[in-house]
Amino acid sequence: MNRKLIKNIPVIKDAKKVKHKHFMIKEIKESPQKAKELLRLLKKYPYVPKIIDEIYNAENVYITGAGTSFHAGLLGTYYFNKLAHTKTIISFAAEFIERFGDSFTDKDSLIGISQSGETKDVKNVMDFLEHKKYKKILSIINIVKSSIALRSRFIVPLACDPEIAVPATKTFVNEIITFLYLAMTLAKKKGITSQVTYKDMEKLPDLLAETIEKTEPSAKAAAKFLGKTKEFYSVGYGITYPVALESALKIKEITYAHCEGMYSSEFKHGPISIVTKNYPVMFTIAKSNKNIMLGHINEVLCRGGKVLAVGPEDKELKKQSNFYIPLPDANQFFTPILAVIPFQLIAYYLCLQKGYNPDQPRNISKTVTVA
Ligand code: F6R
Repeated sequence: MNRKLIKNIPVIKDAKKVKHKHFMIKEIKESPQKAKELLRLLKKYPYVPKIIDEIYNAENVYITGAGTSFHAGLLGTYYFNKLAHTKTIISFAAEFIERFGDSFTDKDSLIGISQSGETKDVKNVMDFLEHKKYKKILSIINIVKSSIALRSRFIVPLACDPEIAVPATKTFVNEIITFLYLAMTLAKKKGITSQVTYKDMEKLPDLLAETIEKTEPSAKAAAKFLGKTKEFYSVGYGITYPVALESALKIKEITYAHCEGMYSSEFKHGPISIVTKNYPVMFTIAKSNKNIMLGHINEVLCRGGKVLAVGPEDKELKKQSNFYIPLPDANQFFTPILAVIPFQLIAYYLCLQKGYNPDQPRNISKTVTVA
């Protein structure tokens, strides 16, 4: 989009200022307000119908990003499939040219996601497509005056204000809300009865606030439960898989413990051999995958492992877990949006417990401008 159009993007704000010790916790706690502002913006954002048309008319829709933004894109593919019955193809930005560069055509579209709008791996994809004169680039971006915004035909702003802490938190929440909103709008255009409505989405800011309030004490206790653990797994299934990857990334990034994110069903194909007495495995559970994940939980428990789980209020899940964090009752499609909050908080409190600064993990900068 050109600079003039970018300048005219509306800004919606009515946040109250609260003091916090670290930017990371401040930004986690801004999520409900930022979600509210995003939803208000999306409702009247003139480019949403144009973006939906692009996705609707494309032969193939690719989604690309790095790190946390990649995880948001992964959930985006799930939402487009489940809600709008539309196939989208996810790729790490750094891998996109190698994997899809030769088969991408001018009938295809690309959705790039980047909080900073400056990530070199994503910029490289845009430059590659621009060089081939493929112009159907859509982007989901927090910093709207950025290189990636300028390379895009249309952008969706994340409406998060600057994110200062290196670990992405509020921007991840708004990235996934954006995908849910786009998938729901595409479903409407295709005449598919969506399992999520605009009215449901309006409940999200309050649900996020409730999740923060209810899960923060448990997250602090969970950090103690995990204690000095140096390595563990975080697993999810279907809709919760991207949260498993994201929780693992956040923990690795700021606590320097090794936490591997994995598809829950894959755990038994090798990694399960690591489970001995007290080995911790974290589970993210949605109502729809309760039974299959209960089976996976039991596989860990019967080998003496410890289970920390996040999921719906449910007696059986609570009973089967050594540590259970229930989420507020909500539409099944909101599970990842709410479930990521306790994991961001666990990463934060685990980091403090180890005496590190969550805002400035070593070896990383907020914007990664090298390939
Ligand atoms: C992790 C984190 C990184 C970024 C990644 C992409 O907390 O922040 O993994 O998500 O470097 O950055 P953006 O979204 O700016 O392209």
